[in-house]
Amino acid sequence: MKIRTAVAAKNTQLLCVFIQEKAEKISGLGRLDARTLAAVRQARDDMGGRLGAVGIVHACGRPARRILLAGLGKKSELTGDTVRFVSGIVAQRAAELETKEFTVAVPPGSVQDPAASASQIIEGAKMSLYRFDRFKAEKKGAPDVMTLVIGRSKKALSAVRAAEIVSDGVIFAKSVANMPPNECTPARLADIARKIKSPKLRCRVIARDELKRRGFGGITAVGGGSRNEPRLIILEYSGGVKSQRPTVLVGKAVTFDTGGISIKPRERMEEMKFDKCGGCTVLGIIKAASEMRLQANIVGIIPAVENMPGGGAYRPGDIIKLYNGKTAEILNTDAEGRLILADALAYGEERYSPRAMIDFATLTGACIVALGTNVAGMVSNNDRLAARVSESSARTTEEVWRLPLNPDYMAMIKSDVADMKNMGIGTAAGTISAAAFLRNAVADTPWVHIDIAGVAWTQASTKKKPYNPNGATGFGVRLILDYLQS
Ligand code: BES
Ligand code: MN
Ligand code: ZN
Repeated sequence: MKIRTAVAAKNTQLLCVFIQEKAEKISGLGRLDARTLAAVRQARDDMGGRLGAVGIVHACGRPARRILLAGLGKKSELTGDTVRFVSGIVAQRAAELETKEFTVAVPPGSVQDPAASASQIIEGAKMSLYRFDRFKAEKKGAPDVMTLVIGRSKKALSAVRAAEIVSDGVIFAKSVANMPPNECTPARLADIARKIKSPKLRCRVIARDELKRRGFGGITAVGGGSRNEPRLIILEYSGGVKSQRPTVLVGKAVTFDTGGISIKPRERMEEMKFDKCGGCTVLGIIKAASEMRLQANIVGIIPAVENMPGGGAYRPGDIIKLYNGKTAEILNTDAEGRLILADALAYGEERYSPRAMIDFATLTGACIVALGTNVAGMVSNNDRLAARVSESSARTTEEVWRLPLNPDYMAMIKSDVADMKNMGIGTAAGTISAAAFLRNAVADTPWVHIDIAGVAWTQASTKKKPYNPNGATGFGVRLILDYLQS
C-alpha cells in the first residue's frame, strides 16, 4: 500500500478521523453540510469514542463518500500504542469495504505530537494489512493507497517516510519468518539476504566447509544432521564514517528445530519453523536501516542451520569447540541456539570490535514460562546499553523485561569435562542459564541478549492486535530501529 500526504481530504471513498472518549469536538472533517454533520454527531454519540469502536456515516461525496469515526478511548489512558492499534482496526475496515483508497486525518497536537501520530497510523495500517497468503489461491484484497491529512511541517513529513520504511522492514521480517521450512533452508535464507540491495550494503556468506575450516564448531555441529547445510550470513551496512565502530546485530536462524537427537515431542512442532525469527528480525532491521540511509555502521550476523537428527547429527555427550576456543559439553541437542549464537557473537566481537552487540533469539521455552507471550526477556552485561534498549522499548511498545545475570547463574553451566555445558541445572532459570552460555562468548563488548521465544509469533495467549495478524510478528525491528536512530 502506497502512502500519500495531503493538507485536506478530497474526493475520497473513506475518510477516517479519530475521536477521544467524551470529546465534544471532532476535528479533521473540514466543512460539512448540515445533514452530514448531524449524522456524524449522531454516530459519535452512538460509539462514544470508546477504544477500538468505529462508526460509519454515509456522506454525499464532499469531502468523502463515507466518514469513519474511530475511538481512541479515554485521554488519560492513551498510550504510545493506542493510535497504532486503532489505525490497524481502521485499515482492516477499509479493506473489508473493498475501497482502493482511503484517507486518514492525523489527530491534532492536543492528542499527541502529530509526527508521532503519523508514524503510528502508517505502522498500524501497513502492518495490519499484511497477510501470509502466498500459498493460498484465494487472497483477500487490500487498499492500494492511504492518504494522510497532515500539515506541512517538515518533521511530520519526514516521519511519514521513515514510518513507511520501518513498516516495510517489519513486513519483510514477518514474510521471511512465515516461510515454511521446506522452502526456507539456510541456503535459501542466504539468497534472501543477498537480494537486499543497497549502495552501502555488502553481503557475505560462509558455507559449511569454510565454517569447519575456520573453527565455527557450534554452527557446524548443530548443522551436521541436515542435508540442508549451514551458512553464516553477514551483512555489512556502512552508512557511518569509517572510523565509527559498528553496532553488531546477531540473529538466531534455525530454519527448523526438531530438537535433533534429543528430539522434541510431536505437539506443535510445526511452530519450530519460527525458530529463525531472530535472524529475520536482523534482516528486517538492516533492510530498513539501509533504505533510511541511517548514518551508522551496522553489521548483521545470522547463523543459519537446520537442527535435524541424522547420521551426521551431533549427540548428547559430544564435546565441541566453539569459535572462541572454549569447549562445550552437549547435554541436550535441543539447546542448539546458544551454540550457534556463541560462534556468531565471538566472531562479531573479534572481527568488528563493535561499540555494542545485540542478539535476538527464540532461545528458551523458559522465557514463555517467565514472561508469557507479550514481553521479551532481556539479559545484558552493561547497564547503560540495557537502559537504552529499555527506553526504545517504551517508545515503540515492543516490550522487554530485564532478567539478572550474576556469577551464581554463570556457575550453573559449569561442566565436569569441558569449559561449560549447554544446559543449566534442571529447568531452573532456563532463560538466564542460556544467556550465561552466551555471556561466555563475549569478552567485554557491551551486549544485550533478547529472548523472543514468546513474542516472535502469535501464540494462544498472545494479546490480539490488529497489526499482528496470525503468524510471525517481526518483533524487534521497530525496537532496534528506534535504538539506532536515538
Ligand atoms: N527453539 C527452542 C526454544 C523455544 C521453544 C522457543 C518453544 C519457542 C517455543 C530452543 O532451541 C530449545 O529447544 N530450547 C530448549 C532448551 C533446553 C533443552 C535447555 C527449551 O527451551 O526447552
Ligand atoms: Mn531447540
Ligand atoms: Zn531452537
